[in-house]
Amino acid sequence: MEEKFAKLIIEGKEYKLPIIKGTEGEKAIDISTLRTESSYIAFDPSFGNTGACFSKITYIDGEKGILRYRGFDIEDLVENLRFVEVAYLLLYARLPNPKQLQHFSDMLTEHSLMHEDMRHFFDRFPRGAYPMSILATMVNALSTFYPNVDAQSMKENVGRSAARLISIVRTLAAFAYKRSVGEPVVYPRNDLEYCANFMNMMFDSPVKPYEPDPEIIKILNMLLILHADHEQNCSTTAVRTIGSANVNLYSTISAGINALSGPLHGGANQAVMQMLKRIEKGGDIKKYLERAKDKKDSFRLMGFGHRVYKTYDPRAAVLKKSCHKLLKRLKIEDPLLDIAMELEEATLREDYFIERNLYPNVDFYSGIIYRAIGIPEDMFTVMFALGRLPGWISHWKEMVDQPHKIVRPRQIYTGKRKRKL
Ligand code: SDX
Repeated sequence: MEEKFAKLIIEGKEYKLPIIKGTEGEKAIDISTLRTESSYIAFDPSFGNTGACFSKITYIDGEKGILRYRGFDIEDLVENLRFVEVAYLLLYARLPNPKQLQHFSDMLTEHSLMHEDMRHFFDRFPRGAYPMSILATMVNALSTFYPNVDAQSMKENVGRSAARLISIVRTLAAFAYKRSVGEPVVYPRNDLEYCANFMNMMFDSPVKPYEPDPEIIKILNMLLILHADHEQNCSTTAVRTIGSANVNLYSTISAGINALSGPLHGGANQAVMQMLKRIEKGGDIKKYLERAKDKKDSFRLMGFGHRVYKTYDPRAAVLKKSCHKLLKRLKIEDPLLDIAMELEEATLREDYFIERNLYPNVDFYSGIIYRAIGIPEDMFTVMFALGRLPGWISHWKEMVDQPHKIVRPRQIYTGKRKRKL
């Protein structure tokens, strides 16, 4: 017989706390009345054991290496759909029929241009400014151009606001890149689909027109789909937290971009490439493995380990396979792929990594593919943000669509007792 309650005995008093079960059998103890009833709070500093919400968007099984968006396995989605279709699926919980897809694509086209006044903002950033900082700043600046998109107004025009963000952020990203290399910006074209439009804005130039390679466009769709959502990760939690104060959508998403830029989170894809290059120069994998194991050394094996996956990240498996296929197709010999494979192999022989279930995560192979299709290293995390946008907006929408409270955790105070000045 399935238990409906958990019993907690504190100072001789018994408390019955309801047990919650998810669609796939995950179980939780509902402690939402714990403090009122017992004056105790639960303590879980990085929330590794704490559920923050109910969600119908993404399901991850960290033990089995399963990732599903709205019930569809990630492997099926990358095989059969384009990024725009998956973005629609995340936002509306259903696959678009041809009419819905056309309408969504038309909105993406309609909102691909940013306000021309924003273009001049780029001229004020220092050369070589970190593209994620530019992106977060520019997305926040959108809130000065579209100020009324908050939880209330959002309900009426979620589609338009989501399409505007998903489309304009792609333009902002490409403009940030062009600015960083001192090339004239390339405007979006209405005749190109989402990924081809992005690559054209990135690599077209007055002296050398860009010819989209269908294979590269297919790979880019796959990369964006793989990054599109991942339930309550750090940046999505930032979006839900900031959004819970009814901040407008653009400033909320800007917070997500900033959280993602951290090297422990989305910034890891760039850190992986820097690590692989250092190994290539220093040539000694063993040394890096020893450093990763040394508690006194802050070095960590970038692209390895995950809070939820205690087996191979299913996205890393897709990326590893695609790496080989793409490099072969493009006739590229990338020594960093060989080093990555060697590093992965080496960890499988080390108890330290085995005992801690440390496997490659989504960031371990993605950089090698970005490099192969011409994306510069300091844009890798921007690519992650482009993919993650529909996920962030879907979680924001899921939260604002239902009665929600401002996120405000408690703490255990360990400071000074009352004292006189
Ligand atoms: C992403 O949450 C998400 O879903 C994120 C993400 C998404 O799609 O949104 O999947 C994207 O952010 C992927 C992760 C990218 N980051 C990295 O690759 C950076 C390197 N990885 C680590 O910093 C770490 O694995 C984290 C941050 C990813 C997870 O950290 P946790 O869950 O807090 O793990 P932990 O620090 O508690 O580690 C447990 C043990 C520790 O050793 P002990 O104290 O038990 O002896 O494993 C060790 C850690 O020192 N460990 C590592 C390691 N990762 C964990 N040791 C060496 N190298 C590593 N990479």
